[in-house]
Amino acid sequence: MPVDNDLKEAVLKHADIVEVIKSFIPVTKKGKNYFAVCPFHDDTNPSLSISPEKQIFRCFVCGASGTAISFVMKYKGLQYFDALKLVAEISGFDDPRLHSQVTKVIKKDEVAEPMLKCLKDLTLYYQYALSTDEGKEGLDYFISRNLDDKLRDKFLLGYAYKDGKATCEYLQKKGHSIKTIEDIGIGKMSNGTITDKNAGRAIFPICNANGDVVGYSARRIGNGSEAKYVNSPETYLFHKSKILYNYHNAKDKARNKKHIYVLEGFMDVFALEKVGIDNCVALMGTALTNDHIQMLRSLNCEIRMCLDGDLPGQSAMMEACKLFSKAGMSCRIVYNNNSSKDPDEILNTEGKDALISYLNNLQTYPEFALNYYQNSNPLNTTEQKKALVSEFVPILLSLNSQLELGTYLRKLSKITGYDVESIREVLKKVKTKKTDVTKAIASFHPERKVLAKLALAEREMLFQMLNNKSAVNFYESKLGGFYDEIYRNIANYIVEYTKAHENIDIPAIINDIEGSDLDNRDELINELTSLLYERRSHPGCDDNLLSDLYDSINKEKERIFENDILEQSLQGKSELEKARLIKEFNDRKFKNK
Ligand code: UTP
Ligand code: MN
Repeated sequence: MPVDNDLKEAVLKHADIVEVIKSFIPVTKKGKNYFAVCPFHDDTNPSLSISPEKQIFRCFVCGASGTAISFVMKYKGLQYFDALKLVAEISGFDDPRLHSQVTKVIKKDEVAEPMLKCLKDLTLYYQYALSTDEGKEGLDYFISRNLDDKLRDKFLLGYAYKDGKATCEYLQKKGHSIKTIEDIGIGKMSNGTITDKNAGRAIFPICNANGDVVGYSARRIGNGSEAKYVNSPETYLFHKSKILYNYHNAKDKARNKKHIYVLEGFMDVFALEKVGIDNCVALMGTALTNDHIQMLRSLNCEIRMCLDGDLPGQSAMMEACKLFSKAGMSCRIVYNNNSSKDPDEILNTEGKDALISYLNNLQTYPEFALNYYQNSNPLNTTEQKKALVSEFVPILLSLNSQLELGTYLRKLSKITGYDVESIREVLKKVKTKKTDVTKAIASFHPERKVLAKLALAEREMLFQMLNNKSAVNFYESKLGGFYDEIYRNIANYIVEYTKAHENIDIPAIINDIEGSDLDNRDELINELTSLLYERRSHPGCDDNLLSDLYDSINKEKERIFENDILEQSLQGKSELEKARLIKEFNDRKFKNK
């Protein structure tokens, strides 16, 4: 049947090609146009260009081109009319003609059909059970969880009779074969008869994106020792990793409201439903898969993650944020304020308004990540702080707005004590691909920069110590320690070594450090080897050189302790180190008086 030209024009007029393509693959804006990695050939650089002005796309490499409708036809392998319908759906456009025209030659899926029929009959049977005496246990359970009849109907909730054999006999009487009953995943053979695995449990049917029941999650009633939820096994129709609970109800609402809540369990979906929020889905656990991401992407809306406040929930959200950010999708996180309550529990203990305001308190990914890292990792040593900066580099690089970047640089700086400019430098190095994150961080010594002159003199002294035993003696008797923590630690190893050995053996010293359990061990080795590589020959070491170095070290130290540089110099130091520096500062002040 030819497609009505008016209808085609109406759909295209409503649709925005960028929105449509964005709902399948990531796109980025460059100038007037948008670009994407072309899905129609083996593309690595984005060569698919999308023109919002002309409402067409074109790949410069493979030549694929056309309108939003042709994109969907090609990408999803659909017939013209089905692609038209999908474009209309994505753009929030509806027209009776889209439903009246049945051009689709429905290919019979001979495996799916009997299963779907059987699942339909079984679901009705489970639902019906709630109104019978034998099913009272199920009804009481739902009532105890405040799930009223409206909610029970909408979500097709039911109860599986304790007599699982009778359930299967009922299905057989309805004309379903034993094979089908086994295929849908509920049948269990015992002593030659087939029985329902879900017997005695409260039933939560699980639908696919079209709203057909494809499986069940069956909850234990009461506090037994059996598993809380028993899910259907993987079947021809049921693939847990491809299903988001309530997706079929939520997809249109999410497109209209421009956001969707992603929750952990169905109880959470019901809790939101009770306070009037119907644009929500549940992962049925914490694993977010690529299929889930594709399903959510097609909604063209903001993702609002709200997994449980416990550690698995929080770390799953970190992972999810990484994936959404990589997929170029916008995502915010419901701020949980260290509470381990799920939305269902919040509703029950704190009420409707509390749940609504909870759900509206959203954090951006960087905000959430900052909190997450702060709460889950200690931030005492330089190594730990560097690890935080390192984790944060990709997040900072993903920010589009300079304003936002500035905000998070300042926050990160406040937490770590590293100055904003030093962190910016790391970003620059990674962004221009001069080096990877690990290397950029390894050579990141923001605390040295402030104290450049002193560090230079101490570094020179350290270099002399590696080549000359008299420099080691001089260090020990006159200087008594370096100001820089790393240099001081290295010097300690050299001093210890020379006490026991005639000659200075650098590899042996490195070996000693490697065998230690210092937190900053890697940093010591990094610094030591870079010092050795930097300078191949060394000038002769005499007393003059040493006393010159001694003078300049002291002069610079004096300057630091006299000025407010003390405060700066404390940044990024461990508590122990801070205490030592403050004591030295006070000692000197006292001495000078
Ligand atoms: P939860 O343990 O958080 O369950 O698991 P819940 O939603 O709070 O349920 P109630 O309030 O105890 O009844 C979250 C989700 O993980 C899946 C379920 O889909 C559940 O909704 N799950 C949990 C299982 O599949 N099996 C289990 O044994 C437990
Ligand atoms: Mn719960």
